Amino acid sequence: MPVAEPGDPDRVLEPPLWEQLAAKSAELPQGERLQKVLAVRGWGSRRVCEDMISDGRVTVNGATAVLGRRVDTDHDLVEVDGVPIGVKPGLVYYLLNKPEGVITTAHDPQGRRTVVQIVPAEPRVYPVGRLDVATEGLLLLTNDGDLAHRLAHPSHGVEKEYLAEVDGAPGGGALRRLRDGVELDDGITAPAKVSQPSPGVLRITIHEGRNRQVRRMCEAVGHPVHRLVRVRIGPLRDAQLKPGEWRELSQAEVRSLVESAAGDTRPIR
Ligand code: URA
Repeated sequence: MPVAEPGDPDRVLEPPLWEQLAAKSAELPQGERLQKVLAVRGWGSRRVCEDMISDGRVTVNGATAVLGRRVDTDHDLVEVDGVPIGVKPGLVYYLLNKPEGVITTAHDPQGRRTVVQIVPAEPRVYPVGRLDVATEGLLLLTNDGDLAHRLAHPSHGVEKEYLAEVDGAPGGGALRRLRDGVELDDGITAPAKVSQPSPGVLRITIHEGRNRQVRRMCEAVGHPVHRLVRVRIGPLRDAQLKPGEWRELSQAEVRSLVESAAGDTRPIR
């Protein structure tokens, strides 16, 4: 096939592929209309939400939104008056330092003490993920089902950091295996961050949430866990909170959590 030269009047100019793709995606409506997203999340009727947008009270990723804007709530940060739409009237977010011996469930048929009995009964909240009965440390409880769902989804990869007191002092080989991935009966674990701040104490950061994962990982490399404490959930830490104590998250923490559930790991500002 003859190749047309620049200046040749018969030359057909093909836009580069990326231009074609960009033009195509601009034609396609992406995501949901902002007023619908706000209305579904309880910010008022569609009419009220349209007014909030027209009044310039709504931003998407920091820029004032215009009516008709479409958003993808998995990736776009939508705020009303500077508050992430995850933070709606009536939503509560508690950070609990779970003591050993308390069950992470909303109701225990055997009548044992549960985490929801430690925080206020109303509005009703649910734990996000779970800690074993013997595990201590940070646990989030909320009635924000949307955020809970997103945080619990392994694809969002919110990091969880643990301190584990183990049998013996793992050597380089065991640490490497923990870091690279350990073969468990439900498959190999994803790469983890692992350090040994003092002999027999491991700091382990994972983003999966498999049942008894840290205990099973340590056991698999020959160092069973004696004590396990979760010290961080994504951007949330609190070294002041004593076992059995809880507090509400600040707005900055909720915002940071919403961002980390969307894959953004910037620290709390
Ligand atoms: N990994 C465990 O083994 N137990 C927990 O409670 C949490 C993570």
